[in-house]
Amino acid sequence: MKDDTEFQMQPQTSDDGTAMEWARKTSKEFAKLMSYYRCAMLEMETRFNVLNEEYLLEYGRSPINTVKSRLKTLSSLQEKAKRRNVPFTIDAIEDNINDNAGVRVICVFPEDVYTIADALLQQDDIILIKKKDYIASPKTNGYRSLHLIVAVPVFLSTGKRMTKVEIQIRTIAMDFWASLEHQLRYKQNTTFTEEMAQELYECAQLSAALDTRMDNLRKSVKGNHE
Ligand code: GTP
Ligand code: MG
Repeated sequence: MKDDTEFQMQPQTSDDGTAMEWARKTSKEFAKLMSYYRCAMLEMETRFNVLNEEYLLEYGRSPINTVKSRLKTLSSLQEKAKRRNVPFTIDAIEDNINDNAGVRVICVFPEDVYTIADALLQQDDIILIKKKDYIASPKTNGYRSLHLIVAVPVFLSTGKRMTKVEIQIRTIAMDFWASLEHQLRYKQNTTFTEEMAQELYECAQLSAALDTRMDNLRKSVKGNHE
């Protein structure tokens, strides 16, 4: 939405709600913006559920274990805008913050991650904005996941509106590691030592090895049935 009248947000001090709740109270335009993100998130969830259903009918198993989504909270949005020097205006948020809407797709096997990503990106109304393959090239701490920033159409009474969504696609093993790493790293009143980082890195290697072994097992089972 490129509004002529730039809408300057007031800094918010209390941190007791989602951006959506605050937006409803303060600005109709901002509430609309957050609502587009929510709709885009729902749209993406549906697309993944449709792919899962189709795959199940075709191959007799579900490649997706779970689909989760979240709308960024106000405090997190404010913190990120500040950190990245993005003015807290509707246009600037829309142009610069890619993860207001986030969808996490947890797949069963590593191969499923790419099957699902490819199937999504083949859809002719999805625009790929950015791709980071942390599975092919894991982060130095061991983090693995496939990240996509896409724009998806949200159909409104006034027309089509392309809206950005951050998608993280990962296996159950990758998700297990990432969830624990996040909890440990952000645990309050503790120092995260070099030894802990090394231990976590080794756990990431174990989780990657587990994925490979499970994938090999899947291939053997598939072979037996052919
Ligand atoms: P932000 O982290 O959102 O500021 O964006 P970025 O541009 O650095 O994006 P990136 O694609 O690297 O990471 C986006 C998201 O992926 C994060 O917000 C986390 O949800 C997840 N993520 C990235 N790196 C890690 C990691 O090392 N550990 C865990 N647990 N999650 C990670
Ligand atoms: Mg983020």
